[in-house]
Amino acid sequence: MKALFRKVGSYEKLSQLAALEIKKKIQGGNPIKLGLPTGDTPIGMYKELVKDSNIDWWNVTTFNLDEYIGIDINHSESYKNFMNRNLFNHIDIDKFNVWFPDQTDDYDAMIQAVGGLDLTILGIGANGHIAFNEPGSPFNSTTRVVDLDKQTIEDNARFFNSIEEVPTQAVTMGLETIMKSHEILLIAKGKKKLDIIQKAMFGEITEEVPASILQEHDNLTILYCE
Ligand code: PGA
Repeated sequence: MKALFRKVGSYEKLSQLAALEIKKKIQGGNPIKLGLPTGDTPIGMYKELVKDSNIDWWNVTTFNLDEYIGIDINHSESYKNFMNRNLFNHIDIDKFNVWFPDQTDDYDAMIQAVGGLDLTILGIGANGHIAFNEPGSPFNSTTRVVDLDKQTIEDNARFFNSIEEVPTQAVTMGLETIMKSHEILLIAKGKKKLDIIQKAMFGEITEEVPASILQEHDNLTILYCE
C-alpha cells in the first residue's frame, strides 16, 4: 500500500485540495479520463472546479461511478441530474465525453478503450461501500447491476421525499474497475466516517468492507475533514 492520509481543517480546504488534484491532471495537457462520484462530500469540490474559469475541459473525459436504476433521468436525484446541476451545466465540457454506466453498455470496455481512468475520486459509505459496491461485493467485480444495502437506502433517503422513493438498485463500476484507475483520491467528511476509514485502511482486507481493497492500490490519497 502506498497511501497518503491527510486530515484537513475544514470542508472548504478539503474541497479546494480535491479540486486541485483534478486541475493538476488537466493542466498536464494530455487527454485525461476521470472517474467521478456523487454524494454530499464532492459538492464543494465541484463548486471549486466551476469557480475556476481557466480550466480547459476539452481534453477531459468523465465516467461517473454509478447511477440509480428505476428513477427517471429527469428526477432531481438521478446522478445524471446531480452531475449536470453541480458540474456539467457550468463548464465547457464536450457532452460526448461525459459517460454514465447503464445496463446496456460494456462500461469497463469503454473505459479501457480510451486508455483507462487516470484519476478516480471516491466517497465512502458508512458501511464501507465505494461507488455502489456494497459489503460482499467481489473484489474482481466489474460494472454491473447491484441491489442497494438497507443502510445505503436509509442514508440516501435524506435526498428523497420518503424512503419508499429511494431506488433499490443501481448500476455501478466494480471494485476491479476502480482499482484499475492509475490514481485514487478518496474524500470523506464528518466524524461518522472516521471509524470506517480506519477499518478500511488498517483492518483486514475483506469483501465485507469493500473499501479495504484500496489497501492494495499503489497510488491512493485520502482527504478527510471532521
Ligand atoms: P457522502 O458518502 O454522501 O457522505 O459523500 C458517499 C457515499 O456514501 O458513497
